[in-house]
Amino acid sequence: MSISRWIDERIDLQQLRADLIDRRVPWGLTWWHTLGSATLTVFMVQVVTGVVMAMYYAPSPDHAYDSIRYIEHSVQSGSLLRGIHHWGASAMVVLVLAHMIRVFSLGSFKYPREMSWLLGVGLLFIVLGFSFTGYLLPWDQKAYWATQVGTNIAGSAPLIGGLMVKLLRGGAQLGAATLTRFFSLHVLLLPLLLIGFALLHISLVIRQGMAPRPLALEEGAPARTNDPAYADYYHERYAKTKAADTRFWPDMIAKDVVVATVIILALFLMAYFVGAGLEPPADPSDTSYVPLPEWYFLPFFQLLKLVPGKFEAVVTVGVPALIVFVLVLLPFFDRRSKRSLFHRPLAAAVLAGTLFGSGLLLYGALRADRENVRLAATTGVPLTSLERAGRALVKSQNCSACHLIGDQKPDSSGDVNKAPSLNEVGFRHTAGWLHSFIESPTRFHPDSKMPSYGLPKLSHMEMEEVARYLSTLRGKHAMSEAPQIVDTFPEPVKKMEH
Ligand code: HEC
Repeated sequence: MSISRWIDERIDLQQLRADLIDRRVPWGLTWWHTLGSATLTVFMVQVVTGVVMAMYYAPSPDHAYDSIRYIEHSVQSGSLLRGIHHWGASAMVVLVLAHMIRVFSLGSFKYPREMSWLLGVGLLFIVLGFSFTGYLLPWDQKAYWATQVGTNIAGSAPLIGGLMVKLLRGGAQLGAATLTRFFSLHVLLLPLLLIGFALLHISLVIRQGMAPRPLALEEGAPARTNDPAYADYYHERYAKTKAADTRFWPDMIAKDVVVATVIILALFLMAYFVGAGLEPPADPSDTSYVPLPEWYFLPFFQLLKLVPGKFEAVVTVGVPALIVFVLVLLPFFDRRSKRSLFHRPLAAAVLAGTLFGSGLLLYGALRADRENVRLAATTGVPLTSLERAGRALVKSQNCSACHLIGDQKPDSSGDVNKAPSLNEVGFRHTAGWLHSFIESPTRFHPDSKMPSYGLPKLSHMEMEEVARYLSTLRGKHAMSEAPQIVDTFPEPVKKMEH
C-alpha cells in the first residue's frame, strides 16, 4: 500500500510495529499477567460510556437527578450504558487491586520496576478518586448521604480537616458547588491524570519488558537488588527468559483478548440483569437515611465503627496515610532479591493478613448493615425509622405465621399457603389502604380469614407503621416501575367469589 509506505518513510511504522507488537516477552506468562491490560480495557469502556452519558448529564442539583432518569428511561440503551459504567467502576477497582496483588506476589515491583510500581500506586488512588466523585453525580439519596459521610470523614482529620472539607465541598455545605466540583474532577482532571499515569506506566512496561516468572530471577542471584553485581545478573538472566521466542503478538495478546472479552461480557450481563439502580432524589432534610458507601470502601467504614470516637481521627488519617506510606516505600524497603512469595514469608504473611483482615471487615460491615443491604435488594431503598418500627411490629405480631413477608422466615407453626405473599404488596396497595385493611379486613372482604389488627390490638400509630413498612415491599419491581395500585374502596363487598 502506497499510503502506509508514505507514512512508513516518515515515522518508521515497521520499527514501531517491531517494538510494540512483535516484541518478545518472557516465556511462561500466566493468565494473571492479563490483569493490567484488562484494567486498561475497562478504562476504555468507562471512557466510551462516560462520554455518552456526559452528553445528557446536567451537573446541577435541580437537574442532575432528572437527567439520570432521562438516561435511564428515555435514551436509547441508556440504562444499559449507565449499568455498564456503574459495574465498570467496580471492575476497575477489583482489577487494579488484583493486578497489584499479582505484582506484589511475584515480586515484580523489585529492581528494575520500582517506578512502574509507584505509577501503579498513583493509578490506584486515581481510580478511587473516580469512584468517590462519580458516586455523587446521580444526586439520589445514596449519592448525597454517602458523600456527606465521606466528606465528614475527611473533615475529622486534625489541623487540615476543616480546609479539606471546604475544598471538597466547595463551601461549608454539600450543594451545587460540590456537584460541579465533583463533576469537573470526574470528567476532566482525573481522566487527564489517569491517561498520563497510564501512558508512563505502559511505556515503562514496553521499555523494560514484562516481568518474568519469579524463579527465573532467583537462582545464583546476589542477595540484594542494590548489590552492584545485581544489574548485570538481572540483564543476563532476563535476556535468557526471552530465549523461547514468545512474542507479544500473538502469544500474549491472545490471552489479553480472551480476558477482555469475558470482562466486557460480564459487564454487559450485570448491566442488563442488575442495572445501576437509582434511589429517590437527594433529600438533605431526611437525616434518618443510612447511607452505604461503595462496597470496596466498606472495610474502612467498618474499621471506623469499631474504634472508639476519640480515636476516629487516628483511623481516618492514620490508615490511608499508612497505606500510602507502605505502598510508596515498598520497593525501596524490600530489596532482597527473592521474588517468589514462597521465599518471602514475611511478605506472604502481610498479604494474607491484609486480605483476611479486609475480608473480615467487609463481612462485618455487610452483616451489620444486613438489614439495609437486604432491603436495598428488595426495594432499592433503606427504611426510614417509621418503616423500621413497622417491620418490628410485623415480626412481633407474627404475621409470618400465614404470610411470606420480606426477609422473615415463614413460621413453621402456621400455613403460609393460607394467605397471599406480601412481598409485592406495596406494588398493589397504598399505605392508606393497607392501614384500613389491617384495621378491619372484613370491611373489604366479608369472609376474610385475615384477623383484624384494629384497636385494641394495635394503635393507629402502630397500624400506620405496619402499613408504611408493607408499602415498601415491592419485590423485584423495586423502584424501577411505578406501583400499579388496585386499592378497592373501603365499602363492604357483597360476597366473595371463592
Ligand atoms: C391467621 C392467618 C393470618 C395472619 C396471622 C395474618 N394474616 Fe394477613 N391475610 C390472611 C389471609 C387469609 C388474607 C387474604 C384474605 C383476604 O383476601 O381478605 C390476608 C390478607 C392480607 C393482606 C392483603 C393482601 C393483598 O394482597 O390484598 C394484607 C396487607 C395482610 N394480610 C397483612 C397482614 C399483616 C400486616 C399481618 C400481621 C400484623 C397479617 N396479615 C397477619 C391471613 C393472615
